[in-house]
This record gives sequence, C-alpha cells and structure tokens, in this order.
Amino acid sequence: MSKLKIAVQKSGRLNEESIGLLKNCGIHIDNGKDQLKASATNYPLEVLYLRNGDIPQYVEDGVADLAIVGENLLVESQNDIEVVRKLGFSKCKLSLAVPKDVDYEGVQFFEGKKIATSYPNTLTQYLKNNNVNAEIHLIKGSVEIAPNIGLAEGICDLVSSGSTLFKNGLKETDTILTSEACLVKSKKLTSEQNALLDTLLFRLDAVQKGKK
Ligand code: PRP
Ligand code: MG
Repeated sequence: MSKLKIAVQKSGRLNEESIGLLKNCGIHIDNGKDQLKASATNYPLEVLYLRNGDIPQYVEDGVADLAIVGENLLVESQNDIEVVRKLGFSKCKLSLAVPKDVDYEGVQFFEGKKIATSYPNTLTQYLKNNNVNAEIHLIKGSVEIAPNIGLAEGICDLVSSGSTLFKNGLKETDTILTSEACLVKSKKLTSEQNALLDTLLFRLDAVQKGKK
C-alpha cells in the first residue's frame, strides 16, 4: 500500500503548528522520544523531522513527498517543488533594516555598502531589480547583531513581531517579500500517492474552513 512521507521542522517556529495541523486533520502521530521519524497510527503517513534548510532539497529529490515550510525558504532555495496550499500561519516578512538613527531615503542607501543576511539569493534578486550594487555578507543566525558590531551597514532578515529589530536598535526599511507556512509536494509523487494526498487535502480544507 502506498503512503506519504511528510517533512516538518525538527525544531523552530513552524514545528508546533505543523504537528498541530496534522492533529487537527485527525491524524495521530506516534512520537517516540527523540525520534526523527514517526508514523501515524491511523493514516498512511510518516513524519520526518528535519532541519528547516534541508527540507526543500529533500522534497525535490522525492526523499520526502510532502513538507510544511515557509515561503521565504522556498523563494531562497529555488528548488523545483510545488506549493499545494498556503496554510495561514507563521506569517512574516523578509525585510531590509538599518540602525534606527540612519537617514534612510530609499534602497539606493545600500549602494557600495554591506548587508548581512541568511537570504543571499532573495536579496541579490531584490538588489538587482533596484539597480543597487551592495556587498552581501552571509551569516546563518543572529543577523540583527551585524550593524552593532561593525560587520555591515544594514541587514536583510525575517521580521515577525519586530521585537528582534527593536531590541537591536534597527528599523525596517523595505519589505522584500511576505511569507507564510505552505504545504508543498514533490513532483515525483505516484498517482496512488496523489490520490492519497487528495484525501489529506480534503481533511485539511475542512479544518482550514472551520477556522475562518
Ligand atoms: C528569527 C529571524 C529574526 C526573528 C524575527 O530569528 O531570523 O531574527 O526571528 O522575529 P521577531 O520579529 O518576532 O523578533 P530566530 O529567533 O529564529 O533566531 P536565529 O536568526 O538566530 O536563527
Ligand atoms: Mg534571527
């Protein structure tokens, strides 16, 4: 019998709501302690707990059939996978920010300057669209610290509540994209798996409709 493997964040902001959504769809996941793989007891579904950044590639390769990831990651990773549904949670923006006392009049501010980010591809495209030449400094986390330690004049990172920007004395200047959690699928699904996905989507749509 065919089944589906769904990848979700191992830890991080999407993890809890992703699991909660599956539960709301009536799927019971049998989580052993510290397991990176768990099976649903009442549905042909396996859950893989993976590092966020690795997930799009696993889906492209068909190692995972489905995944719940942020749109921000999909845009950045540029993998060849399909968005099946937007899920309405984990809403955030990918934005540019500068120290709050900077006199900022537009994205040309960044001409010849350094920007720290974990989103080099998305940022490069945005700068190109705006004819700005800036140097991109890649960092994996705690990006907001960069201007304070003299690493860059500005940053490009996710903004949710805005509290990390505020705490680091930064102000948001440009919104590059808006993002929310999405259900994505591999292009390698068999027709049986696609039929199975339809039954999952039927439940999902009912849950989402109930929330509105
Ligand atoms: C994320 C993101 C921002 C912050 C945005 O970082 O990179 O820094 O959350 O959320 P806020 O607007 O509600 O403050 P995270 O806390 O996940 O840590 P990391 O960047 O070090 O991975
Ligand atoms: Mg951060």
